[in-house]
Amino acid sequence: MCGIVGYTGIQNAAPVLLEGLRKLEYRGYDSAGMAVVQDGRIAVSKVTGRIAGLVEKTEDGRLLPGTTGVGHTRWATHGAPTEPNAHPHTSNDGRFAVVHNGIIENYMELREELTRKGYHFESETDTEVVVHLVEMYYKGNLKQAVMRTSARLQGSYALGIVCADEPGKIFAVREASPLILGIGIGENYFASDVTALVAYTRNAIYLEDGEFAELTPDGIQVYDCAGRPIQKKISRITWDIQAAEKGGYDHFMLKEIMEQPRAVKATMAPRIKGSDIVLDDVDIDLKQINKIVITACGSAYYAGCAAKYAIEKLCRIPVLTELASELRYSDPLIDGHTLLIVLSQSGETADTIAAMRECKSRGAKTLAVVNVVGSTIAKTADWCLYTWAGPEIAVATTKGYTTQLTVLYLFALYAARKLETIDDAAYRKLLTSLKALPKLLQQALDMNPNITQLAKKYHCAYSMFFIGRNTDYAVALEGALKMKEISYIHAESYAAGELKHGTIALIHEGQPVIALCCNDSITEKTMSNIVEVKARGAEVLAVAFKDNQKIVSLADDMIFIPKVNTLFSAAVEIVPLQILAYHVAKENGCDIDKPKNLAKSVTVE
Ligand code: F6R
Repeated sequence: MCGIVGYTGIQNAAPVLLEGLRKLEYRGYDSAGMAVVQDGRIAVSKVTGRIAGLVEKTEDGRLLPGTTGVGHTRWATHGAPTEPNAHPHTSNDGRFAVVHNGIIENYMELREELTRKGYHFESETDTEVVVHLVEMYYKGNLKQAVMRTSARLQGSYALGIVCADEPGKIFAVREASPLILGIGIGENYFASDVTALVAYTRNAIYLEDGEFAELTPDGIQVYDCAGRPIQKKISRITWDIQAAEKGGYDHFMLKEIMEQPRAVKATMAPRIKGSDIVLDDVDIDLKQINKIVITACGSAYYAGCAAKYAIEKLCRIPVLTELASELRYSDPLIDGHTLLIVLSQSGETADTIAAMRECKSRGAKTLAVVNVVGSTIAKTADWCLYTWAGPEIAVATTKGYTTQLTVLYLFALYAARKLETIDDAAYRKLLTSLKALPKLLQQALDMNPNITQLAKKYHCAYSMFFIGRNTDYAVALEGALKMKEISYIHAESYAAGELKHGTIALIHEGQPVIALCCNDSITEKTMSNIVEVKARGAEVLAVAFKDNQKIVSLADDMIFIPKVNTLFSAAVEIVPLQILAYHVAKENGCDIDKPKNLAKSVTVE
């Protein structure tokens, strides 16, 4: 939930740390801080609020000279976003500083123990126990102190630790929280995510759980949890710097919405060879699978809800969609004949990881669909299909969602062919429809210049309803989430047929209802629901195919999408809803890329 970064080398560390923190700010943005080792002491600067405040307070880092340091941007879990609770945390003797991403689950007992031993706590955080443990265990050897400290910690943690007595040295520790090392020349780095590293190096080492690293300007040594040196593979970072910048757009979210045709193409094209779909190294024995369970959180879960229709329809295998936070505690009926599909943009969502581990322990075969290369979910699954969307920085996902759908559509078609549940002609026809998606997404982006006007009309709404049936309902779920998380307007999604079982009582004069009507087989039914809500005064904004004249005559306002095969329509249909949410949020003056109370990567339960 937080971002951490570290630098040791020849330059002043603070400007490098600030640059890294800017890139990591999407991970948490309620407070920030840096600690730099200088002249045998550690200087710390912290602010509440954004990185910009830290830039100002340290005069672009100039007030914190020194060539080794660690930085942090926080999404508060333990304790309010105050300066004392901001990281880095320092030891009572001021000789050590620690930054942390994750949660120390046994911090209460450690805090009691350390308090009894005379250590004084300045914050309410779980993290502070770490720095006092390091001080307690330090007997002139930081590596030993770090190992003894790690052995006492339960939970998830990526740590960066510096010591005034060992200048030029940083220890970086990983347990169930992402941590990547960047290799430079005469300088080395660590960060929670490669976006903070790409400006400096393309050579990276992905730490595994239980490993820790010693960084000096001259090199990086990785150790296993027993302190034995280990050789690690150096990976090449393929994301470029521009991908992590706004590129002329006002917001990352808008840039990422616009990137969707390209991202979907990048995800799909390498996997279609002639008339074959080639899914990397996936060699699932599909004939042994009698049930598919899709699990994820938030938008990723909604991508699963939308793709369920395509997989069931094409493969004739029952597909259950389960929220990861529920699945993990549900004593799930899963066995060796279950294929668990795990969706996650970040690959680090705590509930999703836990659900996957629970199902794996019951014998499920696991297929991950992940964007961040080398992430925990990617590594834990039996097979991984990456969504080649590039870095997604805006907290609200857009291209993450559409590329997840793309992979699932590819999978549905691939599996149907393997299982022989569709004939060759149907397969070829569907493959042609699938290949058209990037072009159709581009059309969906281009064909609604009126959305800015619609946003001006709807931005004052107190609440909105998103209704639809079947695949349209799945899109309604994601459309409503986009609207509420960035515009702060209450939005609810309803299976249109459910309205009259209670919710229609809430429809009143002027109530906005967004009606999704892009599923030909059932549009007539949704149109009846439009008539019903209109009869009670609702203001209806319908989303439909360009040629649907009947809806034009019913609805107050229209958004059009190009004609697309119903099985794959969700990927196209969501695009104008993303744009609508974006412009409504803009009208309302919201912080679109960093909505309040949220963080990009939810690495806590
Ligand atoms: C909403 C959003 C979240 C994520 C969810 C899962 O716009 O981004 O709902 O979809 O937190 O995150 P990942 O996909 O990283 O597991």
